[in-house]
Amino acid sequence: MQITAAVSRSPDSPFTLESVDLDAPRADEVLVRIHATGLCHTDLSSKTRIPGPAVLGHEGAGVVEAVGAGVAGIAQGDHVLLSYRSCGECAQCRSGHRPYCSRSALLNSSGCRADGSATLSQNGTPLFGSFFGQSSFAQYALASADNVVVVDPAVDLAVAAPLGCGFQTGAGAVLNVLTPEQDSRLVVFGAGGVGLAAVMAAKALGVGQIVAVDPVASRRAKAVELGASQTVDPTSEDVAAVVRGATHALDTTALPDVVATALRVLEPRGILVTVGLGARHATIDVVDLLLNGKMIRGCVEGDANPAEFIPELLKLHAQVKFPMEAVIRRYDARDIQTAVAGSRSGAAIKPVLVW
Ligand SMILES: NC(=O)c1ccc[n+]([C@@H]2O[C@H](COP(=O)([O-])OP(=O)(O)OC[C@H]3O[C@@H](n4cnc5c(N)ncnc54)[C@H](O)[C@@H]3O)[C@@H](O)[C@H]2O)c1
Ligand SMILES: [Zn+2]
Ligand SMILES: [Zn+2]
Repeated sequence: MQITAAVSRSPDSPFTLESVDLDAPRADEVLVRIHATGLCHTDLSSKTRIPGPAVLGHEGAGVVEAVGAGVAGIAQGDHVLLSYRSCGECAQCRSGHRPYCSRSALLNSSGCRADGSATLSQNGTPLFGSFFGQSSFAQYALASADNVVVVDPAVDLAVAAPLGCGFQTGAGAVLNVLTPEQDSRLVVFGAGGVGLAAVMAAKALGVGQIVAVDPVASRRAKAVELGASQTVDPTSEDVAAVVRGATHALDTTALPDVVATALRVLEPRGILVTVGLGARHATIDVVDLLLNGKMIRGCVEGDANPAEFIPELLKLHAQVKFPMEAVIRRYDARDIQTAVAGSRSGAAIKPVLVW
């Protein structure tokens, strides 16, 4: 079918709305009419790596238009959130850690189906698609049973769309990996969509001291609104001195100096979780790590299984303990470039495109 999608022609070009062809759903696939798609920083960093033409977007939310014959438990008309794909069969999936699926790269970032066929094309030429098993910067997306989460039709799809990645990542890093206690001191570096989801989750857990570090004043103010007990401006304050005594730290910046500082400010046996995707290398003080029994862990998608974790976060949201509407900003999908600019300038924390 012919649909409209936001296409990245090349790493440097703006997204352009173009007419493209979407394949019919196969037996194991789900066709979703996209209502809203969150813009995650990973869309922008992937854009710079993928030569294009490509359709990105991996926080899709919409209504099921059709399901393949082999799909159970998902029906036409269901309201759904889309997340990342996993095989469900490898050792990591079976042990409950689906983000580390052995087929993850093939299923989420190969640009096509696992068998090599394209879901998206233009005048017969394949486009890079199937991004996170969706490519949802588009009016319609082909997903799979393993990355579709059915939700109550009362859920506002534009508010909930970022649960598919950014909100799941920040909240999961806190609830599934860092697991701070009420008397812990958690420091979150970077108050973007991921960092603020971490702040909300920590507040929901009742963590007493939540420190948010971000150079953007409006983001620090938002962190306070969502439960941070202290904020730090790295451009004017000595971060290491102000946040000292942390028991738990989360890095969402992927900046080498910030990662090094995050490790340094930890108390003995403190834990740093990194989720930022950016610089590949950082220099850390190995002696400090060793002598103080500190720990560093990476974490993808909050180490969460979307089918279980997203409903939990929606429950917290219904109890007003995860107020994610305070973080999103809606944009007409035609204004995708304005949304990108808002994300880059810091004006929009979590842009959501409405189709
Ligand atoms: N691991 C995963 O599964 C996963 C999932 C989603 C996103 N990500 C990655 O997580 C990161 C955060 O994503 P996001 O959407 O929240 O991005 P974002 O750009 O909205 O947030 C990053 C924040 O860091 C702040 N920052 C910049 N310099 C800083 C400094 N010196 N100290 C403290 N803060 C600083 C920025 O002002 C911004 O608010 C990105 O790298 C993204 O690619 C990873
Ligand atoms: Zn797997
Ligand atoms: Zn993402």
